[in-house]
Amino acid sequence: MFDNSPIGVFDSGMGGLSVWQALRRELPHESLIYLADGKNCPYGDKPAAEVAEHVSHAIEELVRRNAKLIVVACNTATAVAIEDMRKRYPSIPFVGMEPAVKPAALTTRTGTIGILATRAALAGDLFRHTCQKYSEGVQIISSVGEGFVEAVEEGRESDDDTLMRIRRAVGPMLDAGADKIVLGCTHYPFLAQQISEVIGEREVELINPAPAVARRAAWLLEQHHIGAEAGHKPDYSFVTFADDSYLARITDKAMMLAEEE
Ligand code: DGL
Repeated sequence: MFDNSPIGVFDSGMGGLSVWQALRRELPHESLIYLADGKNCPYGDKPAAEVAEHVSHAIEELVRRNAKLIVVACNTATAVAIEDMRKRYPSIPFVGMEPAVKPAALTTRTGTIGILATRAALAGDLFRHTCQKYSEGVQIISSVGEGFVEAVEEGRESDDDTLMRIRRAVGPMLDAGADKIVLGCTHYPFLAQQISEVIGEREVELINPAPAVARRAAWLLEQHHIGAEAGHKPDYSFVTFADDSYLARITDKAMMLAEEE
């Protein structure tokens, strides 16, 4: 059995393209439809009820466009709304973003790990539970990446202001001896180079959960027998609730990522 319908990928904005890229690599025959809200981004500082409404609207749109599996490529949206979405659409498999506390906690040598995420993601039950589960003997230092999402959305990744914000968020983790820093928001991998500059010579690994999420999506396609047929030529489409110029920017960014391969 096979299903050539697209996988839906959703984020508040452009950040989820870091997951889109991993999905494209892991599943080269699968069509992807990427929905970037764009109109209501960033989600991270909004009340949970408001984020839940935006997520619901977005998922409705992906279902309407026939998504066979949905990747919620946003830690904030996952934390706030994925369980409700699973209940509302029981026949569609969902994959969410989990802060990669587990791989960081299991591999740290210094016993200290850092987690960068949005305020809403850090406040969610998912984060609290994951931390409780893996925190034995491990010091977890979490920090909100203030202004990080906006910097990526506006293409200001290397501004002085962005670098200053990165130093402020990452500095305490480095001072405490963290040797793993989890990128707990899908926008943050687009700041990996700048974060690495701040880390400098120290031996610190940045952990991006996107490849693991793509592997999970691949596994679910297999379990549900809904993978595309062998040799299927994939289609990549992009949708937004913002305007045409935003759509053009997402498409350009995605094409740049595709060329990197
Ligand atoms: N990419 C979203 C995440 O992973 C960003 C959230 C936001 O819009 O603030 O959390």
